[in-house]
Amino acid sequence: MKPTSIPFRLGIIGGVAGGRLRRRPYSQYPTTLNSKSPRLFLVLLVVGMRLWAEPPAAPALTWHAPSDPAVAPAVAQAKVTIAALVGTLLPAVNAAVEVGGPPQGVILCHGQAEPLTQQTRQQAGPSVTGLKRTSLRVRNPANAPDRAEQAALDRVAALLAAGKEPPPLLVQYLAETPDHPAELRVYRSMTVAANCLACHGDPASFTPQLRDSLRTHYPQDTATGYAEGDWRGLIRVSLQP
Ligand code: HEC
Repeated sequence: MKPTSIPFRLGIIGGVAGGRLRRRPYSQYPTTLNSKSPRLFLVLLVVGMRLWAEPPAAPALTWHAPSDPAVAPAVAQAKVTIAALVGTLLPAVNAAVEVGGPPQGVILCHGQAEPLTQQTRQQAGPSVTGLKRTSLRVRNPANAPDRAEQAALDRVAALLAAGKEPPPLLVQYLAETPDHPAELRVYRSMTVAANCLACHGDPASFTPQLRDSLRTHYPQDTATGYAEGDWRGLIRVSLQP
């Protein structure tokens, strides 16, 4: 078969189909609009649906080795920011747990995790444009991954599935799009420590009060059932490249 024959045959099919459509009187087209040009209406409908359904352009995504000298300043800044976040959140949670047990810690996280995260981002200076904690199993749906975070989480999950350790850091470059400036993202893996289990461990070990509190504040919680040493997710720092 000559390489030109498939487009040629498609052309014939298209021509026959087109001829059939053309031969059909306009009045027989199934349309509720009393329009004199249903074809134009259909074209506008299809274009409109496409525009409506078109997701915003996804930025092209590339990976850098964290040791790449080109990203060294960003990685250094991200490490400082992550240390500041952990140094802010952990003592706050621990203090709340000490005062009122895990339910009190849940209330603290519910009200303060996000404000404290954004406060840490602001204190990091203008080069840090984003700070977030995310996971494949989130407690708060607001922490669910975006497309690039999902790619980073999937990358770690694939390494784990291959029997490897989670990489301490991942570095991602997102190219500029019409809706978004270029962005450099540094991710750090989080591991479940013994004291995380009070709220992320086996729900059977939770008091009824803690279970109630989680159910009330996080009806879609999927972040339980972890064991010590499990990979929990990623902290993401966004920087201006
Ligand atoms: C006192 C209970 C408590 C403890 C202890 C705790 N967490 Fe959480 N964790 C929460 C709550 C509540 C949230 C949801 C916060 C929010 O609304 O953003 C959360 C959210 C998270 C998230 C964000 C993703 C998601 O699931 O929404 C990560 C990551 C996380 N925890 C990791 C940890 C790690 C790692 C530890 C141990 C170092 C830990 N947590 C200890 C209660 C706890």
